[in-house]
Amino acid sequence: MTKVRKALFAIAAVALAAAAPVGAQLTPRPTRPQVVPPQGPVRQIIFKNCTSCHGIDDYGFHALDQAGWNALIDERHKTKPVELVTSDRELLVGWLVSKFGPGTRPFPRAYVPPEITTFFSDAEAEALLKRSCTACHDLERVNTGRFSADRWRVITVDMRERGAKIADDEMERLVEWLGRTKGTNPNQ
Ligand code: HEC
Ligand code: HEC
Repeated sequence: MTKVRKALFAIAAVALAAAAPVGAQLTPRPTRPQVVPPQGPVRQIIFKNCTSCHGIDDYGFHALDQAGWNALIDERHKTKPVELVTSDRELLVGWLVSKFGPGTRPFPRAYVPPEITTFFSDAEAEALLKRSCTACHDLERVNTGRFSADRWRVITVDMRERGAKIADDEMERLVEWLGRTKGTNPNQ
Protein backbone atom coordinates (compact mmCIF):
# COMPACT_ATOMS: atom_id res chain seq x y z
CA MET A 1 0.00 0.00 0.00
CA THR A 2 1.18 3.53 -0.70
CA LYS A 3 1.30 5.95 2.18
CA VAL A 4 -1.80 7.81 0.96
CA ARG A 5 -3.84 4.65 0.52
CA LYS A 6 -2.77 3.47 3.95
CA ALA A 7 -3.91 6.76 5.45
CA LEU A 8 -7.27 6.60 3.64
CA PHE A 9 -7.73 3.04 4.78
CA ALA A 10 -7.06 4.08 8.37
CA ILE A 11 -9.63 6.89 8.16
CA ALA A 12 -12.26 4.57 6.73
CA ALA A 13 -11.59 2.03 9.50
CA VAL A 14 -11.98 4.70 12.18
CA ALA A 15 -15.22 5.92 10.61
CA LEU A 16 -16.61 2.39 10.55
CA ALA A 17 -15.57 1.69 14.13
CA ALA A 18 -17.18 4.95 15.26
CA ALA A 19 -20.43 4.29 13.40
CA ALA A 20 -21.10 0.80 14.74
CA PRO A 21 -21.50 1.39 18.49
CA VAL A 22 -23.62 4.50 17.96
CA GLY A 23 -26.04 2.52 15.82
CA ALA A 24 -26.18 -0.20 18.45
CA GLN A 25 -26.88 2.28 21.26
CA LEU A 26 -29.78 3.82 19.39
CA THR A 27 -31.58 0.54 18.72
CA PRO A 28 -34.93 1.25 20.32
CA ARG A 29 -36.62 -1.33 22.48
CA PRO A 30 -40.25 -2.33 22.03
CA THR A 31 -42.78 -0.27 23.94
CA ARG A 32 -44.16 -2.13 26.92
CA PRO A 33 -47.56 -1.90 28.58
CA GLN A 34 -47.77 0.02 31.88
CA VAL A 35 -50.29 -1.57 34.21
CA VAL A 36 -51.53 0.45 37.17
CA PRO A 37 -51.79 -1.71 40.31
CA PRO A 38 -55.35 -2.05 41.65
CA GLN A 39 -56.42 -0.84 45.10
CA GLY A 40 -57.89 -2.91 47.91
CA PRO A 41 -57.58 -6.64 48.57
CA VAL A 42 -56.36 -7.53 45.04
CA ARG A 43 -53.43 -5.17 45.55
CA GLN A 44 -52.47 -7.08 48.71
CA ILE A 45 -52.76 -10.42 46.92
CA ILE A 46 -50.54 -9.24 44.06
CA PHE A 47 -47.87 -7.73 46.29
CA LYS A 48 -47.85 -10.78 48.53
CA ASN A 49 -47.77 -13.48 45.81
CA CYS A 50 -46.78 -12.06 42.47
CA THR A 51 -44.25 -9.24 42.50
CA SER A 52 -41.25 -11.02 44.02
CA CYS A 53 -40.20 -12.35 40.59
CA HIS A 54 -41.60 -9.90 38.02
CA GLY A 55 -43.76 -6.79 37.71
CA ILE A 56 -47.38 -6.62 36.64
CA ASP A 57 -46.97 -4.82 33.31
CA ASP A 58 -46.81 -8.09 31.34
CA TYR A 59 -50.41 -8.83 32.29
CA GLY A 60 -51.28 -6.25 29.59
CA PHE A 61 -50.06 -8.64 26.85
CA HIS A 62 -53.10 -10.87 27.41
CA ALA A 63 -56.86 -10.69 26.91
CA LEU A 64 -58.41 -13.79 28.46
CA ASP A 65 -61.49 -15.07 30.23
CA GLN A 66 -61.43 -16.72 33.66
CA ALA A 67 -60.41 -20.16 32.35
CA GLY A 68 -57.77 -18.59 30.12
CA TRP A 69 -56.17 -16.62 32.98
CA ASN A 70 -56.14 -19.66 35.24
CA ALA A 71 -54.53 -21.75 32.50
CA LEU A 72 -51.94 -19.05 31.70
CA ILE A 73 -50.93 -18.66 35.34
CA ASP A 74 -50.56 -22.44 35.71
CA GLU A 75 -48.70 -22.82 32.44
CA ARG A 76 -46.19 -20.00 32.97
CA HIS A 77 -45.25 -21.15 36.45
CA LYS A 78 -45.05 -24.88 35.79
CA THR A 79 -41.53 -25.22 37.18
CA LYS A 80 -42.38 -23.26 40.34
CA PRO A 81 -46.16 -23.12 40.79
CA VAL A 82 -47.59 -19.99 42.42
CA GLU A 83 -49.34 -20.98 45.61
CA LEU A 84 -52.51 -19.02 46.22
CA VAL A 85 -55.42 -19.90 48.48
CA THR A 86 -58.54 -20.47 46.38
CA SER A 87 -60.37 -17.33 47.53
CA ASP A 88 -57.32 -15.14 46.74
CA ARG A 89 -56.95 -16.75 43.33
CA GLU A 90 -60.61 -16.10 42.54
CA LEU A 91 -60.31 -12.43 43.50
CA LEU A 92 -57.11 -12.01 41.52
CA VAL A 93 -58.45 -13.73 38.40
CA GLY A 94 -61.68 -11.71 38.70
CA TRP A 95 -59.64 -8.50 38.59
CA LEU A 96 -57.52 -9.79 35.69
CA VAL A 97 -60.67 -10.60 33.68
CA SER A 98 -62.16 -7.17 34.47
CA LYS A 99 -59.02 -5.37 33.23
CA PHE A 100 -57.69 -7.79 30.60
CA GLY A 101 -60.75 -9.76 29.61
CA PRO A 102 -61.68 -11.28 26.26
CA GLY A 103 -63.32 -7.99 25.20
CA THR A 104 -60.04 -6.04 25.49
CA ARG A 105 -57.14 -5.99 23.05
CA PRO A 106 -53.80 -7.40 24.17
CA PHE A 107 -50.96 -4.87 24.06
CA PRO A 108 -48.69 -5.65 21.05
CA ARG A 109 -45.35 -7.24 21.99
CA ALA A 110 -43.39 -5.86 19.11
CA TYR A 111 -44.20 -2.15 18.68
CA VAL A 112 -40.84 -0.39 18.35
CA PRO A 113 -41.18 3.38 18.05
CA PRO A 114 -39.59 4.61 14.80
CA GLU A 115 -37.04 7.39 14.98
CA ILE A 116 -38.47 10.71 13.79
CA THR A 117 -36.67 13.66 12.30
CA THR A 118 -39.61 15.99 11.68
CA PHE A 119 -41.92 17.25 14.37
CA PHE A 120 -45.58 18.28 14.41
CA SER A 121 -46.69 21.88 14.64
CA ASP A 122 -49.73 22.45 16.87
CA ALA A 123 -51.96 22.67 13.77
CA GLU A 124 -50.67 19.36 12.35
CA ALA A 125 -51.07 17.53 15.65
CA GLU A 126 -54.57 18.92 16.18
CA ALA A 127 -55.61 17.89 12.66
CA LEU A 128 -54.38 14.34 13.32
CA LEU A 129 -56.17 14.17 16.67
CA LYS A 130 -59.37 15.26 14.97
CA ARG A 131 -58.98 12.64 12.28
CA SER A 132 -57.82 9.68 14.40
CA CYS A 133 -59.03 10.26 17.93
CA THR A 134 -62.64 11.42 17.85
CA ALA A 135 -64.45 8.25 16.77
CA CYS A 136 -64.97 6.94 20.33
CA HIS A 137 -64.58 9.88 22.69
CA ASP A 138 -64.17 13.63 22.36
CA LEU A 139 -60.80 15.35 22.60
CA GLU A 140 -61.50 16.46 26.16
CA ARG A 141 -59.85 13.18 27.21
CA VAL A 142 -56.70 14.09 25.35
CA ASN A 143 -56.65 17.78 26.16
CA THR A 144 -57.03 17.30 29.89
CA GLY A 145 -54.49 14.45 30.05
CA ARG A 146 -51.00 15.14 31.40
CA PHE A 147 -48.50 12.32 30.96
CA SER A 148 -44.84 11.73 30.17
CA ALA A 149 -44.05 10.99 26.50
CA ASP A 150 -43.48 7.32 27.40
CA ARG A 151 -46.91 7.09 28.99
CA TRP A 152 -48.49 8.91 26.01
CA ARG A 153 -46.89 6.28 23.76
CA VAL A 154 -48.41 3.45 25.78
CA ILE A 155 -51.84 5.13 25.69
CA THR A 156 -51.64 5.81 21.95
CA VAL A 157 -50.53 2.24 21.13
CA ASP A 158 -53.44 1.06 23.26
CA MET A 159 -55.83 3.38 21.36
CA ARG A 160 -54.61 1.95 18.06
CA GLU A 161 -55.25 -1.58 19.32
CA ARG A 162 -58.77 -0.42 20.13
CA GLY A 163 -59.24 0.87 16.59
CA ALA A 164 -57.70 4.35 16.17
CA LYS A 165 -56.44 4.73 12.60
CA ILE A 166 -52.90 6.03 12.82
CA ALA A 167 -49.62 5.02 11.12
CA ASP A 168 -46.38 4.35 13.03
CA ASP A 169 -44.57 7.52 12.00
CA GLU A 170 -47.65 9.68 12.66
CA MET A 171 -48.00 8.02 16.03
CA GLU A 172 -44.45 8.79 17.06
CA ARG A 173 -44.77 12.43 15.99
CA LEU A 174 -48.03 12.69 17.91
CA VAL A 175 -46.41 11.13 20.99
CA GLU A 176 -43.53 13.62 20.81
CA TRP A 177 -46.00 16.52 20.52
CA LEU A 178 -48.20 15.21 23.35
CA GLY A 179 -45.16 14.81 25.60
CA ARG A 180 -44.06 18.36 24.72
CA THR A 181 -47.42 20.13 25.06
CA LYS A 182 -49.31 17.86 27.49
CA GLY A 183 -46.47 16.53 29.56
CA THR A 184 -46.07 16.27 33.30
CA ASN A 185 -44.37 19.65 33.67
CA PRO A 186 -46.80 21.62 35.92
CA ASN A 187 -46.27 24.81 33.85
CA GLN A 188 -47.87 23.30 30.74
C1 HEC B 1 -41.33 -17.61 41.56
C2 HEC B 1 -41.34 -16.51 40.65
C3 HEC B 1 -42.70 -16.04 40.14
C4 HEC B 1 -43.79 -15.66 40.88
C5 HEC B 1 -43.92 -15.59 42.39
C6 HEC B 1 -44.81 -15.27 39.91
N1 HEC B 1 -44.34 -15.42 38.64
FE1 HEC B 1 -45.37 -15.00 36.93
N2 HEC B 1 -43.80 -15.62 35.83
C7 HEC B 1 -42.60 -16.08 36.34
C8 HEC B 1 -41.73 -16.44 35.23
C9 HEC B 1 -40.32 -16.98 35.35
C10 HEC B 1 -42.46 -16.16 34.05
C11 HEC B 1 -42.01 -16.36 32.61
C12 HEC B 1 -42.30 -17.75 32.19
C13 HEC B 1 -42.19 -17.93 30.70
O1 HEC B 1 -41.85 -16.97 30.00
O2 HEC B 1 -42.48 -19.02 30.23
C14 HEC B 1 -43.76 -15.65 34.47
C15 HEC B 1 -44.75 -15.26 33.58
C16 HEC B 1 -45.97 -14.72 33.94
C17 HEC B 1 -46.97 -14.25 33.03
C18 HEC B 1 -46.87 -14.20 31.50
C19 HEC B 1 -46.17 -12.93 31.11
C20 HEC B 1 -46.03 -12.74 29.62
O3 HEC B 1 -45.08 -12.08 29.20
O4 HEC B 1 -46.88 -13.24 28.88
C21 HEC B 1 -48.02 -13.81 33.78
C22 HEC B 1 -49.30 -13.19 33.26
C23 HEC B 1 -47.67 -14.00 35.15
N3 HEC B 1 -46.40 -14.55 35.22
C24 HEC B 1 -48.49 -13.71 36.21
C25 HEC B 1 -48.17 -13.94 37.54
C26 HEC B 1 -49.11 -13.77 38.63
C27 HEC B 1 -50.54 -13.29 38.49
C28 HEC B 1 -48.44 -14.11 39.78
C29 HEC B 1 -49.00 -14.16 41.17
C30 HEC B 1 -50.13 -14.99 41.35
C31 HEC B 1 -47.08 -14.49 39.39
N4 HEC B 1 -46.96 -14.39 38.03
C32 HEC B 1 -46.08 -14.86 40.27
C33 HEC B 1 -42.24 -16.16 37.66
C34 HEC B 1 -43.06 -15.88 38.73
C1 HEC C 1 -61.81 2.82 18.91
C2 HEC C 1 -62.16 3.73 19.97
C3 HEC C 1 -61.13 4.77 20.37
C4 HEC C 1 -60.37 5.60 19.57
C5 HEC C 1 -60.43 5.73 18.06
C6 HEC C 1 -59.54 6.38 20.45
N1 HEC C 1 -59.79 6.05 21.76
FE1 HEC C 1 -58.93 6.89 23.39
N2 HEC C 1 -60.08 5.73 24.61
C7 HEC C 1 -60.98 4.76 24.18
C8 HEC C 1 -61.56 4.11 25.34
C9 HEC C 1 -62.59 3.00 25.29
C10 HEC C 1 -60.97 4.70 26.48
C11 HEC C 1 -61.22 4.36 27.94
C12 HEC C 1 -60.19 3.34 28.35
C13 HEC C 1 -60.26 2.99 29.81
O1 HEC C 1 -60.81 3.75 30.60
O2 HEC C 1 -59.72 1.91 30.16
C14 HEC C 1 -60.05 5.73 25.99
C15 HEC C 1 -59.32 6.55 26.81
C16 HEC C 1 -58.39 7.50 26.37
C17 HEC C 1 -57.57 8.32 27.24
C18 HEC C 1 -57.55 8.31 28.76
C19 HEC C 1 -56.49 7.31 29.17
C20 HEC C 1 -56.09 7.37 30.62
O3 HEC C 1 -55.25 6.53 31.01
O4 HEC C 1 -56.58 8.24 31.35
C21 HEC C 1 -56.79 9.09 26.42
C22 HEC C 1 -55.76 10.12 26.86
C23 HEC C 1 -57.11 8.74 25.06
N3 HEC C 1 -58.11 7.77 25.06
C24 HEC C 1 -56.50 9.26 23.95
C25 HEC C 1 -56.77 8.89 22.65
C26 HEC C 1 -55.99 9.34 21.50
C27 HEC C 1 -54.78 10.24 21.57
C28 HEC C 1 -56.58 8.78 20.40
C29 HEC C 1 -56.16 8.91 18.97
C30 HEC C 1 -54.80 8.44 18.64
C31 HEC C 1 -57.72 7.97 20.85
N4 HEC C 1 -57.77 8.06 22.21
C32 HEC C 1 -58.59 7.28 20.02
C33 HEC C 1 -61.30 4.49 22.87
C34 HEC C 1 -60.76 5.08 21.75
